[in-house]
Amino acid sequence: MEQRKLLELLEEMSLEEKINQLFQGNGSFYEGGSIATGPASEQGFSEKTIREAGSVLSIVGAENIKKIQKAHMENHPHHIPLVFMADIINGYKTAFPIPLAQGAAFNPKVAKEGAEVAAKEASAAGIQVTFSPMLDLVRDARWGRVMESNGEDTYLNSVYAKALVEGYQGDDPKQPGKIGACVKHFAAYGAPVAGRDYNNVELSERTLRDDYLPAYEAAVKAGALLVMTSFNTLNRMPSSANKWLLRDILRGEMGFEGTVISDWAAIEEIRNHGVAKDRKEAAKLALLAGTDIDMMTTCYSNYLKELIESGELDEALLDEAVLRVLELKNKLGLFENPYKDADEEAEKKVLLCEEHRRKAKEAAKETFVLLENDGILPLKKEEKVAFIGPFTEEKAIIGAWSIFADEKDAVSVKEGVAAIGANAIFAKGCDSLEPGAVMPGMNFIYESSRTQTQAQMMLDEAVEAAQKADKVVLCIGEHMAQTGEAASRADITIPEGQKKLLREIARVNKNIAVVLFNGRPLDIREIKELAKAVLVVWMPGTEGGNAIAEVLYGETAPSGKLPMSFPYAVGQVPVFYNEFKTGRRMNPDQPENRFQSRYMDIPNEPLYSFGYGLSYTEFSYSGVKLSSGNLERNGKITASVTVKNIGSRKGAETVQLYIRDEEGSVVRPVRELRGFEKLWLDPGEEKEVSFTITENMLKFHDINMKYTAEPGRFTVFVGGNSRTLNQAEFCLTF
Ligand code: NOJ
Repeated sequence: MEQRKLLELLEEMSLEEKINQLFQGNGSFYEGGSIATGPASEQGFSEKTIREAGSVLSIVGAENIKKIQKAHMENHPHHIPLVFMADIINGYKTAFPIPLAQGAAFNPKVAKEGAEVAAKEASAAGIQVTFSPMLDLVRDARWGRVMESNGEDTYLNSVYAKALVEGYQGDDPKQPGKIGACVKHFAAYGAPVAGRDYNNVELSERTLRDDYLPAYEAAVKAGALLVMTSFNTLNRMPSSANKWLLRDILRGEMGFEGTVISDWAAIEEIRNHGVAKDRKEAAKLALLAGTDIDMMTTCYSNYLKELIESGELDEALLDEAVLRVLELKNKLGLFENPYKDADEEAEKKVLLCEEHRRKAKEAAKETFVLLENDGILPLKKEEKVAFIGPFTEEKAIIGAWSIFADEKDAVSVKEGVAAIGANAIFAKGCDSLEPGAVMPGMNFIYESSRTQTQAQMMLDEAVEAAQKADKVVLCIGEHMAQTGEAASRADITIPEGQKKLLREIARVNKNIAVVLFNGRPLDIREIKELAKAVLVVWMPGTEGGNAIAEVLYGETAPSGKLPMSFPYAVGQVPVFYNEFKTGRRMNPDQPENRFQSRYMDIPNEPLYSFGYGLSYTEFSYSGVKLSSGNLERNGKITASVTVKNIGSRKGAETVQLYIRDEEGSVVRPVRELRGFEKLWLDPGEEKEVSFTITENMLKFHDINMKYTAEPGRFTVFVGGNSRTLNQAEFCLTF
């Protein structure tokens, strides 16, 4: 529809109709194709609001959506279609590995392809917008939602942000098989104090701008249609009421022209934060700040009319927000085609199709990170291997946010290994959680009815299996319900029963390879001590078991690198590689010096740092060669290394470029990732990798909060992880 017509439509709409266009309700209100007033009216939503709502979340299924859209448009005074939105995070029916795992691939193609598959499946099922990507930078492994992010690094997240938006939206979200992307959670939701979900966030403006905002901005620049506000306060201001954040930064500085949606009930929570005295004031603050859509509260629908009629709010502000909702529908082509790609036949064809499963498996294989291996991996098919642990059979490995995918469609480790035809025996050993445990997940409840006696029998069987085997593959980790939204943990180790299993197995068989399932970095000191190999597989998705079997048996080598540091102990958290220089940096050569920045009881360094990960082969690096020791304004230099596979198997290495600004007008980080390239090399093969360094890559927010590069000395590091000392120096001169 032409913009002129949108404006005419806006002009024709009544005040109430406009207000209702800003309301987003839950799918359950529309169950069965007509308005179900029950649950809605209990929460105070009027039938009229629902009838005239602008969008809806969490309804899926082509037939259902078409029915609801048809009825809605018939009833709506101006026949305006709804927009159907849902959380399609790492897939719709075919679950890819969780986003944190995707970060470990250090390959944006993995994320882009995952988003393409998700868009294809979700759009066939009638969904038009996904609440993804989540681009919250995370540095605190206690926070349950680290699984939804691509990790601790600003640059890696920004590269992935672009790939994800392109994957969902393609060149034009109107096109068949594409959906709109909604960037979330704006802003800095990933930095809650003490890692506790929904807690407040305190960040300096410089850290916010240098580290937290760039990934959101990359997604905005890639054309994401929506941005979601965050639940948290940022420096004491709830995001949905933060005019500076939404109007000055998002719209003004980043140039965002799309639609801003609140997170679920976040407008009402402005009142809980104590920044508004009631819902009416919350509505006023949110609209003033620039929040267009009110997800799941009555704040806008019940109070905007009064606020406008009394002159407390200017109707022009409402018109602006409504126009953005209409524009969103227009960008999705809904005025011409309100059902977009909803199609029962297409659903049958694409959901969980072979091609999507194959892509999910290939993606998963790229995300596994080998942390330890003293040579027991890869396994040989003839060896007798006991696969032990709750995750041998577990199918809840699709990620906590895979709310539309069915775990029954997932391939377990046991099934994957059976498909390979290896000489394997299996024993569960214990459940993921303790006997009698009850734990609510995102959309299910974990409940164990196991008795202590039954648990002991399972353990005994596993010990017996371990005794009979050459090697043990111990499949252990966090239960999916322990990860995701509202799943902050203070003790980030594996559950007690699994620790006991590990200890008992280690008593009878020392050849243990641990396959670790996790939605966050864990403290794995004990695992490191008792196992000879550790393979991190995260929550690997629908094809998890097949991918794991292929990597364990060496059909392909693990090639992931950690997107987030694994702490030595939770006491270090937040721990991340690009920390700031301190005045008393720990000198390991002076352990007797008390007055250094350090812990008395544990090392400063994480157990495994960002960027770390092994292969089944080894790589050598040449020194770093710079094309010049001098970089001029608007000029460029290159940093090159030659990487060689010096082992006897094919493998991948992610070559990483880090830069340290030696002096600045404000304190600079010890190093920052500025480039990476993943290479597959045959045994004996070598390749030169070159990175171009420009002034832009050296910019930060200086003492005057100006985004600029300062002349001076820089150190370049190129290597296989964030601790590499392979380095060279150059100067930036103006
Ligand atoms: C709350 C979550 O914070 C957000 O990420 C999600 O998109 C919405 N609920 C909608 O389900």
